[in-house]
Amino acid sequence: MGITVARSVPEPPRHVAIIMDGNGRWALNHALPRAEGHRRGAEAVRQTVRTCAEVGISYLTLFAFSSENWKRPKDEVQTLMGLLRFYLESEIEELVKNGVRLRVIGDREGLDREIQTLICNAEKRTIGNTHLNLTVALNYGGRREILLAVRAMIRDAVTGELDPECVSEEKFEECLETYGLPDPDLLIRTSGECRISNFLLWQCAYSEFVFLQTLWPDFSKADLLTAIEEFHQRERRYGGTKG
Ligand code: IPE
Ligand code: IPE
Ligand code: MG
Repeated sequence: MGITVARSVPEPPRHVAIIMDGNGRWALNHALPRAEGHRRGAEAVRQTVRTCAEVGISYLTLFAFSSENWKRPKDEVQTLMGLLRFYLESEIEELVKNGVRLRVIGDREGLDREIQTLICNAEKRTIGNTHLNLTVALNYGGRREILLAVRAMIRDAVTGELDPECVSEEKFEECLETYGLPDPDLLIRTSGECRISNFLLWQCAYSEFVFLQTLWPDFSKADLLTAIEEFHQRERRYGGTKG
């Protein structure tokens, strides 16, 4: 009789955050307009959400548009906003069906009214879902998020509602847009760039960073699994000692 040795499969990281970069270079490599790179990038988003749900990741946070991305040519910004509108309209049923809860962080007031309404509806329709928590960062900047939190706390301190001596990390986190989400365990950035570009500055204090050469439109399940494998090789010490 053979003996079956149970090989323990490590748990996937609880929270994966992704800086989805490289749409423009993907288009350039294929002699296509940048808009086509963004369109293919949106396809990769759809696939990645499915894969993360399948692999058992509980929280996925995607950087889709930074507060600095307005610096791009007007037609490119329009393309990105058009794709966002299309995604919100066409994916909502899929998100509902698959138990995905959608949240948006970032300055939504700066987006089109129509997009704001779509976001609001999508958040409301998926509020009860628990299978995968999908957070999309739109018109998001980490410094701005921190500044707004500081401003809110100063306001409360001035009115006497907040004792400055009681400002703790926990209290501060209550003022961040990500309140209620665990910090990312794994941060992936595609396209070979090794920078954070103003994403989740506070929350990534102890995240493991994995930088992949893959350009975002080519991001596949194999890439996700490679990043997770790399994550499992890391020893998270949080300032302590080995072991
Ligand atoms: C990511 O791809 C999409 C956004 C930042 C909105 P890029 O458009 O930045 O692609 P590259 O970096 O130019 O290749
Ligand atoms: C970061 O990518 C923002 C998003 C992926 C949405 P960028 O392409 O804007 O970043 P930089 O300009 O190379 O730092
Ligand atoms: Mg880029």
